Amino acid sequence: MIDASTKEEVLIEALPYIQTYEGKTFVIKYGGAAMTEDQLKQTFAKDVTILRKIGINIVIIHGGGKEITEAAKAFNIKTTFIGGHRYTDEKMIELVVMMLAGKVNKEIVNLINTNGGNAIGLCGVDNMLLRAQKHMPDGVDLGLVGEIASVNVPFINLLLQNGMMPVIAPIGVGENGQMLNINADLAAGAVAAALKAEKLVYLSDIEGVVVNNKLVSTLARSEAAKMIEAGSIFGGMIPKVRSAFDTLETGVNKVHIIDGRIKHSLLLEIFTDEGIGTQMTHEG
Ligand SMILES: Nc1ncnc2c1ncn2[C@@H]1O[C@H](COP(=O)(O)OP(=O)(O)OP(=O)(O)O)[C@@H](O)[C@H]1O
Ligand SMILES: [Mg+2]
Repeated sequence: MIDASTKEEVLIEALPYIQTYEGKTFVIKYGGAAMTEDQLKQTFAKDVTILRKIGINIVIIHGGGKEITEAAKAFNIKTTFIGGHRYTDEKMIELVVMMLAGKVNKEIVNLINTNGGNAIGLCGVDNMLLRAQKHMPDGVDLGLVGEIASVNVPFINLLLQNGMMPVIAPIGVGENGQMLNINADLAAGAVAAALKAEKLVYLSDIEGVVVNNKLVSTLARSEAAKMIEAGSIFGGMIPKVRSAFDTLETGVNKVHIIDGRIKHSLLLEIFTDEGIGTQMTHEG
C-alpha cells in the first residue's frame, strides 16, 4: 500500500497534465502483452476509462496478430510475414475479419464497458470509417493488405462528442468494396493524423525501441532509418517506427512506444514528469 502523502504527490503531479489534455484527443494502438494477459487487460480498461472520464477523447486501434496466427493454425491456413506485414490472401482476409472485427474487437469493448468506459466497437467497414487502397511497402505485394486512403473523421467526432470511446479493428474498404487487412500500427498513425490528435501511443510488449540491449528513450527519424537499414529495428517494430514519423509530420505532437507489460504504463506515461518508453521526435 502506498502512504497518503505519496498518493497526494502523485495526484498533484498529474493535475497540470489533466488540465493540458482536457478536450484533446489521444489515439492508442493497443497490442502485444497488454492485450493478451488478463491482469494487464483489466488495468488497460481502467486506464482508458479514467482518461475518458477526465475529459480526454480516446480512440483505440487494436492489433490481434497472435490471435489471427493461432486461428490460422486451427484452420490449417499458412501464415507468412514479410517485413512485419502478414501476407493476406482470400482465405486469410476472411479469418482476419472474423478474428479482428469479431472476437478480438468485442472482447476489448466488453472489457472496457464493464469498467464503465462507454466503448463502441467498429472496424473500417462501419460507415466507411477507413477507406483504403492496396499497400505495397517497398514494392512488395502483400495480397489483400491495405493502407488508409481516408478516415471518416466526422463520424469519429460524432462518437467522441457523445462521450463514446471508439475501438477500431484495422480493416479497410477498398475502392471496389474489397475488405483489406491494415497493419494496426499504420492504421493508428493514419487515424491520429486525420484526427489531428494530441498524442499517439503504441502500447507494445517491449520497453520501447531497444538497440544493443539499451532502451532508446528519444529517437529521431534519421537514426531510425539507419537502425532499420542495419537490421537493429526489424519485424513488427518497423511499421510502428515508420508510421510514428509519418504521423509526426502531419502535426501530431507526440508519439510514444511504451511497455504494455508494465501495469498502468499508459497512465505513467501521460501523467508523470519522467515519461517511459521511446519518444519519437522531429530532428534536432
Ligand atoms: N529495435 C527493436 N526494439 C524493440 N523491439 C523490436 C526491435 N526490433 C524488432 N522488435 C520486435 O518488435 C516487436 C513488437 O512488434 P509486434 O508487431 O510483435 O507487437 P505489437 O505491434 O505490439 O502487437 P500486434 O502486432 O499484435 O498488434 C517486439 O516484440 C520485438 O520482437
Ligand atoms: Mg505489430
